[in-house]
Amino acid sequence: MKALILAGGAGTRLRPITHTSAKQLVPVANKPILFYGIEAMAAAGIVEIGIIVGDTRAEVMSTVGDGSQFGVRITYIPQDQPLGLAHCVLIAHDFLGDDDFVMYLGDNLLEQDLAAFVQAFEQARLSEAPPAAQILLKKVPDPHRFGIATLDTDGNVVHLVEKPADPPSDLALVGVYLFDRTIHLAVSSIEPSPRGELEITDAIQWLIDQGYRVRCELLTGWWIDTGKLTPLLEANRLLLEKIVTRIDGTVDDASIIDGRVIIEAGAIVTNSTIRGPVAIGRGARITDSFIGPFSAIGDDCEVTNSEVEHSVIMTRSTITDIPRLEDSLIGKEAVVNRTQLRPRALRLMVGDHCQIDVE
Ligand code: TTP
Repeated sequence: MKALILAGGAGTRLRPITHTSAKQLVPVANKPILFYGIEAMAAAGIVEIGIIVGDTRAEVMSTVGDGSQFGVRITYIPQDQPLGLAHCVLIAHDFLGDDDFVMYLGDNLLEQDLAAFVQAFEQARLSEAPPAAQILLKKVPDPHRFGIATLDTDGNVVHLVEKPADPPSDLALVGVYLFDRTIHLAVSSIEPSPRGELEITDAIQWLIDQGYRVRCELLTGWWIDTGKLTPLLEANRLLLEKIVTRIDGTVDDASIIDGRVIIEAGAIVTNSTIRGPVAIGRGARITDSFIGPFSAIGDDCEVTNSEVEHSVIMTRSTITDIPRLEDSLIGKEAVVNRTQLRPRALRLMVGDHCQIDVE
């Protein structure tokens, strides 16, 4: 079993961050989103991982490396243009060969581990009617926003439809798929959709139409497609909920640490209150400030005389004299300053290297 992780794409819904950075490398609970996917593959016993990379390939490759930090071997597969999820399978054929594989969307996060999902497929492959694919489904309240599956009475998938106006069910396709080699035939048989992409739902529908069996499993834990700001902050919240207190940095006597908090080595907290769950990265400096629940402050950030809550601040950014920053995503090496004394809450999405002076 191999894995194919998709970390290319345009990331238009997460601009301005994606003008300069890969959305899959945005940190949640101070760890790049993509790392959770790679770790999930490693935990499922998969060692050979191909990663599709696009315009942001240099950053992805330098951050992830050869995979040894995760105990896996990584092969990078460049995609010149984001021509669709099925296009990723098409260009990964040499890497995948005839092996079964898991396809995982690199900006998705799942609570549940994937070992049981992979084992269920391996088991079913030994049956008399082996499936060519297995998809993961999650009941959602707003099915018109997702790829939606219809099942027959035996629980096999009979129809898939993208973002239906009139949803036939509330079962959304989660960004994890299992395929055998038949998918290569499928992706080379379908045509691009009206939006110009080779759609993986069309490829799976092709399998069904040709009489191949497509199994499904139902996901019980949470699943988040982090491609937009609100779900990304939600993922940060859910992952911070699981942290265990660890204080490796320095906290002075005038500071208060309340609830579950991680303070990494080299971080310095001075005259501040940290109310968890909160993660503070290596070398960060928090001075005369309040860091409230569900905040992740990246490595080497400086927060001075400010209040931050329910936000992700990426590495080496500076927040100064901001009475309240909430529900925000601040890119790398950004500077947010207040130049006049007017108290109000700010909700910001700030790109890498930007400077914002609030007046
Ligand atoms: P999407 O979030 O569906 O697409 P996108 O990244 O282009 O984002 P947006 O819609 O905001 O412009 O992609 C899901 C994952 O698959 C994500 O990690 C990017 C990756 N991907 C590729 O690697 N190649 C592709 O051709 C596409 C469409 C996506």
